[in-house]
Amino acid sequence: MSVPTPPRTIHVGLAGLGNVGAGVFKNLEQNRDLIRQRTSADIRVEKVVVRDLNRPRDVEVPEAMLSTRWQDLVEEANIQVVVELIGGTTTAYDLVCAALRAKKIVVTGNKALLAERGQELFALAETCGVPIYFEAAVAGGIPIIQVLQEGLVGNRILSIHGIINGTCNYILTRMSQAGLDYQTALAEAQEKGYAEADPTLDVSGWDAAHKAIILASLSYGFWIPASHVHVEGVDKIQAVDLKFAKRLGYTIKLLSVIRADEQGLVEVRTQPTLVPLSHVLASVSGSFNAVLVSGDIVGETLFYGRGAGQDPTSSSVISDLCEAAAVLVYGARHSGFVPHGLYGKSKPIEDTVSHYYLRLTVDDVPGVLAQVSTVLAERHIGISSVIQPEDLEDTSGSTSLVLMLHDARLGDMLQALSALKALACVRGEPSWMRVETLQG
Ligand code: HSE
Repeated sequence: MSVPTPPRTIHVGLAGLGNVGAGVFKNLEQNRDLIRQRTSADIRVEKVVVRDLNRPRDVEVPEAMLSTRWQDLVEEANIQVVVELIGGTTTAYDLVCAALRAKKIVVTGNKALLAERGQELFALAETCGVPIYFEAAVAGGIPIIQVLQEGLVGNRILSIHGIINGTCNYILTRMSQAGLDYQTALAEAQEKGYAEADPTLDVSGWDAAHKAIILASLSYGFWIPASHVHVEGVDKIQAVDLKFAKRLGYTIKLLSVIRADEQGLVEVRTQPTLVPLSHVLASVSGSFNAVLVSGDIVGETLFYGRGAGQDPTSSSVISDLCEAAAVLVYGARHSGFVPHGLYGKSKPIEDTVSHYYLRLTVDDVPGVLAQVSTVLAERHIGISSVIQPEDLEDTSGSTSLVLMLHDARLGDMLQALSALKALACVRGEPSWMRVETLQG
């Protein structure tokens, strides 16, 4: 392969000049010479689509480059690569489809779009003969997509455990280390530019779940339907649970778990989960993300870095632009996603199995523990430890019971929770979370 000289110019259209878009524009400029030397391509943003021409911005873009019509990026024959950073699943979908049909390479950081419509978008990319690249869609600056597509391509993926939402990790870290309340911690994360435009996506767990769907689909070769993913957010976590978790030797992380069982059924879930304090994932703090990938040949590998924010995420977009430049300079690659597990199946949510943490507020009278353990035993759920923290007893005659439970099917656990709520001695809503021991 010969290196072209002088460098080829790659003409890019950028849709979205928010936090990440501005970072791409700024950092492409900052490292232009280095990128040109490494890729033999001079990557030039030619047109930028924004929602409001008059909005103050982080970067100075010549007025002549700005437009409010996304169609301009598709209609302009000169543009070879369209970068979609507007988010959402409506206009972004129209833009990506139109760009592919116009034979332009697409780069996107839009995890919701890929999680919901990835299957049809990659099929369209295949038909149109142009790829979609999406490194920025998962784990901000960590190049985890390349890891799965290239670095670990020879491995069967046994499991992935990921902390893949910077906002939630920031919130949990600040609640647990600085004693902040949930709202204050969320406001800080928004101020630092980690949160999505609609932070509900972050705190509901769905942003991480979208990323987990992408990682699972790359690992197992078929698109996992969102309805088969068990998702819970951080918005209901109480400070008292962080305190008990610590007392039991754990911390709470919004953890995404992806794994296939012996029958090949793929489980995908994203929930607040107790993680042992002694495990390396417990020390992933603030907006940092970490993805622990276990492959049948390589064993365990761990990838760590900033999972949100302008510069880290723009680093991933720039990596995709360089990949696009390589295609344009040296020739075609695959569409971005190669389906290879068309007969794969995802595991029904109720059949997923884990240990659990359970905190109940109960009447402080004799016989309560016997009633609780009977309800659990009837669903074949074993108790591994119980604590009744004296410092939480109140004067209204109730007390807390904190139980650690052995492996149980989620279906059995949900039935047990309903039965526990119906007991006269149980007050209010039980608080429960999965526990991952992360051993083996
Ligand atoms: N809102 C996301 C996060 C940004 O907090 O992780 C990166 O996807």
